[in-house]
Amino acid sequence: MSEVLCRLRRLSVTYAFRRERVRALWDVDLDIVGGERLAIIGESGSGKSTLARALAGLLPEHAGLRGEISWRGLSRLARPGLDIGLVLQDPAASLNPVLTVGEQIAEGVRRHRGLGWHEAYRRAGELLERVHMPQPDKVLKAFPHQLSGGQCQRVAIAAAIAPGPALLVADEATSALDMVVQAEIVRLLRELVREEGMTLLFITHDIALASGLVDRIAVFKNGALVEVGPVRDVLSAPASPHTAALLYSHRDLATPPLVEEVPL
Ligand SMILES: Nc1ncnc2c1ncn2[C@@H]1O[C@H](COP(=O)(O)OP(=O)(O)OP(=O)(O)O)[C@@H](O)[C@H]1O
Ligand SMILES: [Mg+2]
Repeated sequence: MSEVLCRLRRLSVTYAFRRERVRALWDVDLDIVGGERLAIIGESGSGKSTLARALAGLLPEHAGLRGEISWRGLSRLARPGLDIGLVLQDPAASLNPVLTVGEQIAEGVRRHRGLGWHEAYRRAGELLERVHMPQPDKVLKAFPHQLSGGQCQRVAIAAAIAPGPALLVADEATSALDMVVQAEIVRLLRELVREEGMTLLFITHDIALASGLVDRIAVFKNGALVEVGPVRDVLSAPASPHTAALLYSHRDLATPPLVEEVPL
């Protein structure tokens, strides 16, 4: 039986907005099991990013949290960066524009692994190779604005996996990319989680994309978890009308996976 990495019980999150509180998550019960690939699906505003931030302990101060989040059966939260690697939609938000790629990956490696600068820089080069970055030596010396969206996302993934996190959270990590690059990044994520033994939380509004990558799907609507189950069950017999509606525009989903297992 696999270990439960992250257990959420009756988790609710609200945000203060003017004099009101906006409900972002409501009474969510969910287990993220070690080694699985789980997709969080939902339309814009359904609470997906709030869930990612809550489990990494990265909610803003004006957020209120009720319920339980436990990490590996402990009553503490996961340590962002160390236990959980985060890859976001907009790499510009996570990459530092004034540091070269090599400097910023090496800085993270130094902080988490306690290596000296030269060793950390060498490790940054290895990580770029690990994410199949073309011309890694050149990219090490480049600034983020000199890279394409797909290259930036590979850098963000390299930085996220550097400390060896148990859980990799990709929050709309491929949404800003064109379809070809999107498929490449999805393949890379699949390869990395398999070879590094990581658990994957893949957050997207695109149920078609997720269905080719994950083992289980959790569907959210207005902050509530409306259903969770193995991909094939959810696709072939959705328990909720909301999931059925999401699937309606993807009738070709009867035969997943959509993204083929093509070696890199
Ligand atoms: N920092 C914040 N301050 C106030 N309200 C917020 C904040 N972040 C999110 N919200 C609100 O919480 C709800 C859930 O937002 P969240 O960003 O988690 O949704 P999402 O599913 O990630 O959406 P998207 O697909 O657009 O990224 C929304 O109503 C949103 O307006
Ligand atoms: Mg979001």
